[in-house]
Amino acid sequence: GKYRVVSTKSMPGTRWISLLTANDCRLEICTEKKTILSVDDILALIGDRCDGVIGQLTEDWGEVLFSALKRAGGTAFSNMAVGYNNVDVEAANRNGIAVGNTPGVLTETTAELAASLSLAAARRIVEADQFMRAGLYDGWLPHLFVGNLLKGQTVGVIGAGRIGSAYARMMIEGFKMNLIYYDLYQATRLEKFVTAYGQFLKANGEQPVTWKRAATMEDVLREADVISLHPVLDKTTYHLINPERLAIMKKEAILVNASRGPVIDEVALVEHLKVNPMFRVGLDVFEDEPYMKPGLADMKNAVVVPHIASASKWTREGMATLAALNVLGKIKGYPVWGNPNLVEPFLKEDATPPA
Ligand code: GLV
Ligand code: GLV
Repeated sequence: GKYRVVSTKSMPGTRWISLLTANDCRLEICTEKKTILSVDDILALIGDRCDGVIGQLTEDWGEVLFSALKRAGGTAFSNMAVGYNNVDVEAANRNGIAVGNTPGVLTETTAELAASLSLAAARRIVEADQFMRAGLYDGWLPHLFVGNLLKGQTVGVIGAGRIGSAYARMMIEGFKMNLIYYDLYQATRLEKFVTAYGQFLKANGEQPVTWKRAATMEDVLREADVISLHPVLDKTTYHLINPERLAIMKKEAILVNASRGPVIDEVALVEHLKVNPMFRVGLDVFEDEPYMKPGLADMKNAVVVPHIASASKWTREGMATLAALNVLGKIKGYPVWGNPNLVEPFLKEDATPPA
């Protein structure tokens, strides 16, 4: 291979491997057993000759790594994730390195996990499962694990982009929930869907579903029964859910987070869960992964899973393939290899203007 490409982790599927090896790349997949690589581990991987790297969201991609990659002759980096808050894109671009991510292929998978967490919280699935396994079930009772009916309730979406909109659609179509959403951009297609679905229900003699674009995030928090968070993590969304905002939510609301942990003030959330036993959460992400804030693991009203929202076989293979394409696209040059529909614009001069 003409080019040396490094992947900091083994990834699902084989297509990403053959894509690289069939196109002049010598691929090196890190075999280090520890889960999270340090900056020093990655510096050693880059070595003194490296054209591109596929990295992971657990890694700190900043000036140190990008300047090392530049010195090694590299021009391309792709995160195997849609989120890239672990990547200092400016530092990368300053060092002449293009940055890719892997949107699109994980939209439905991630939305389905957020929907799973919503249902698990609403119907207390994990608590009930633990109760069964503990041998505590001694007969049907009218009060046993009574939860929330979603039909006719309001689903609140904060961040109605690709994933937030897919989640909203699932909850509306699947459970006939009404929608309230907050986003800086209007989710036109989602609004049209809800309107059309509402008309369909009405024509069938059923209660129509409705939608509302909230003027403030607070409106969503006050009005919704199930709230799912789908913003990008940046300075403006850090601790978006803080004590003041928790306080205005319904006492029996469900809060779901499959975006990034620091969007919620997790210490404040644990306090809120303690004081409000009917308030429930479904969490895929945490402020200090892999750790949970003290007390969270003891809360029966929390469902917690280890950052698995994009973890379907199809999606993970797709993410790996896109990450490989991102790196290859930069190394081999546009327009033959670049796929501007699937990656964030690389360096400004590489970006294709939107049609
Ligand atoms: C996963 O968290 C991702 O951003 O793809
Ligand atoms: C519950 O199992 C019922 O039959 O209502």
